[in-house]
Amino acid sequence: GRVWTQVGSLTDQLKDRSVLVRGRAQAIRAVGKKIAFLVVRERGCTVQCVLTAAPDLVSPQMVKYATGVNRESFVDVEGVVSVPGVPIKGATQQVEIQVRKLYCVNSAGNTLPINIEDASRSEVEIEKALEAGEQLVRVNQDTRLNFRFLDLRTAANQGIFRVQCQVENIFRQFLLNEEFVGIHTPKLIAGSSEGGSAVFRLDYKGTPACLAQSPQLHKQMAICGDFGRVFEIGPVFRAEDSFTHRHLCEFTGLDVEMEIKEHYAEVMDIVDRLFIAMFDSLNEKCQKELEAIGKQYPFKPLKYLRKTLRLTFQEGIQMLKEAGVEVDPLGDLNTESEKTLGRLVAERYGTDFYILHRYPLAVRPFYTMPCEDDPAYSNSFDVFIRGEEIISGAQRVHIPEFLAQRAEACGIDVTTISTYIDSFRFGAPPHGGFGVGLERVVMLFCALNNIRKTSLFPRDPQRIAP
Ligand code: 4AD
Repeated sequence: GRVWTQVGSLTDQLKDRSVLVRGRAQAIRAVGKKIAFLVVRERGCTVQCVLTAAPDLVSPQMVKYATGVNRESFVDVEGVVSVPGVPIKGATQQVEIQVRKLYCVNSAGNTLPINIEDASRSEVEIEKALEAGEQLVRVNQDTRLNFRFLDLRTAANQGIFRVQCQVENIFRQFLLNEEFVGIHTPKLIAGSSEGGSAVFRLDYKGTPACLAQSPQLHKQMAICGDFGRVFEIGPVFRAEDSFTHRHLCEFTGLDVEMEIKEHYAEVMDIVDRLFIAMFDSLNEKCQKELEAIGKQYPFKPLKYLRKTLRLTFQEGIQMLKEAGVEVDPLGDLNTESEKTLGRLVAERYGTDFYILHRYPLAVRPFYTMPCEDDPAYSNSFDVFIRGEEIISGAQRVHIPEFLAQRAEACGIDVTTISTYIDSFRFGAPPHGGFGVGLERVVMLFCALNNIRKTSLFPRDPQRIAP
């Protein structure tokens, strides 16, 4: 076979070498009848290919043919790498290909619903272009999502989903090193796993059932199965009513459950080391991707400490109080106060990432362990990036009688979770864990404004297609 070069690996080291690349024709521009520029894109990287009508290059017919190629068509280009003296605008690679052969592998339709170049521009670039009187279509989010397979071709989106893959990868690698076992819990379950109304109900061969709102109950039962430490990466279903920038009806949950020897701080220690390893790795291994994302959606790098800040809920509401925000000491924080606290923490401690723990018991799920010294509070925590929640976690109640009592107190029909409660009757260890929203981690690491940007094919209260 022939030797193929990836567009992303075209550098000046290949100067004067003959290369063969395959990609999509992103833009085609003719200069007179003798020259045409063709920008070829592969996986978010672009290279400018120059067709010049000359005896040892290409024929005038070939130049004409190139200008007729529809945008986004799949093309093969063969030619010699050259290095122009001036920076190349409109391409990621700073070399050109002097074309010898051009072949259209598969032509694209000529009415594209999304122009990839327009869809790749930042807000600032769009404003400037409009001011300069350029013909430009601002691509709105619904159009992007309706034609997501096209939208995914932008350099920023190519970066986002590679970053997401690395988050998942580090999560797995780190936990495997810490002797956690990867598991898969059922997504078809008999009753709701988190309580509340946000559950998709379905018919399971004549029996009412649900789509799992989390692996919560089964990951705890796996602890009762003597695995000691488990994790899961899998889909989570929430029948959310509210249409917000951070709620999906299906997202990817990164879940952890582990035995606790003495204190729920052992769970927070895992969060701490896991996320520092993750952020370090993203900054080190995903530089190119983060740069591509930042070019379209500029953001400040995440600030985080080598040892993650832990504040108690009471300390948190004290900080809010000093800033003039009153919060019920036995209630929950709302989105607004979480954001405010995030800002205050960033100012005082210089971090965008922190843990808030010892939440009031009343605002946590029934399976949460109350604090030994004050049962109005609980051995639980939330973790925030830039003032928005990415994780919630806790120590669990492992005493079956108490668990049943807590479930009843929270208005849950105990008969629907009897197998879960029974699993704690035959020697259950103290344990705890947490759940991470994958799409939220990527969204907030890159300070993106909408979770739909970090979900490949988002499912929200108004969208189940494509
Ligand atoms: O806070 P949640 O509901 O907690 C649980 O599911 C517990 N079982 C976790 C545990 O082990 N104690 O969900 C966990 C995380 C949230 O912090 C958030 O990042 C994300 O999942 N999340 C959502 N992400 C996208 N869309 C939604 N509708 C989400 N709901 C929660």
